[in-house]
Amino acid sequence: MKNVDQNTITQAVLERMGNMPDARLKTIVTSLVHHLHDFAREVQLTEQELMHAIEFLTQTGQKCDDKRQEFILLSDVLGLSMLTVAMNNQKPAGCTEATVFGPFFVEGAPKVALGGDVAQGAPGQPCSVSGRVVGSRGQPVVHALIEVWQADEEGFYDVQRPELRAPQARASMQADGDGRFHFKTIVAEAYPIPTDGPVGALLRAMGRHPWRPAHLHFMIKAPGFETLITHVFRNGDQYLESDAVFGVRESLIADWVKQPDGNTLLQFDFVLNESHD
Ligand code: BEZ
Ligand code: FE
Repeated sequence: MKNVDQNTITQAVLERMGNMPDARLKTIVTSLVHHLHDFAREVQLTEQELMHAIEFLTQTGQKCDDKRQEFILLSDVLGLSMLTVAMNNQKPAGCTEATVFGPFFVEGAPKVALGGDVAQGAPGQPCSVSGRVVGSRGQPVVHALIEVWQADEEGFYDVQRPELRAPQARASMQADGDGRFHFKTIVAEAYPIPTDGPVGALLRAMGRHPWRPAHLHFMIKAPGFETLITHVFRNGDQYLESDAVFGVRESLIADWVKQPDGNTLLQFDFVLNESHD
């Protein structure tokens, strides 16, 4: 097709994809072309603005390495990560809700025994966490595999501290035969997502703050159940209403109760959805 104009180019591009063998990819790219073109027409995108966007995405890629994933951050602050989580994790009432994975999970975290210390020297106030993993009928999820990771009191994950020689504030453990678990750690604090890259510049340009409310990350796996990726948030945190990545769910907010001896107690039970495949 020659002489395409601003209205006929969308159809011209779509026709060029007529022979795509992968049906799902065709659905995705077709919709993407429709939305991208409509977007450009709607905002009457200038050539300078397109170049600016390309430079932004180039910088986003250049900021990525094996410890930093700026594209995940971009997806997070635009709400795309949480939208995808919400669409793909619709569970029956009563099951624990999922939320964003985030960029700070590390495969192969140290294994700790029940009651063990997850902090491993990370700075922070002492905290004891306990709970139970059950299925949707209240049955114990025997020996569920629990991964936990969190920021320290200065708002950093261990992977953001290049001087560390060993993991801190992350661990994996197995629930007991009744689905129960408990461990020692430090009190999680609110922290800003990394702002020294293009996503930070975008947040500033949007007039938005980068803070996430204090939370503990959990990933829980067991045969016969859907894997649950979620957080437990700290009640009273000032950022619960304005999480930079839109990850807060009312049902995931819990009381972290400070004791007279200075220790903080957190109790939270998880309800897994049975898998049906
Ligand atoms: C996190 O909770 O670790 C996180 C999630 C999204 C973006 C940055 C950090
Ligand atoms: Fe986090």
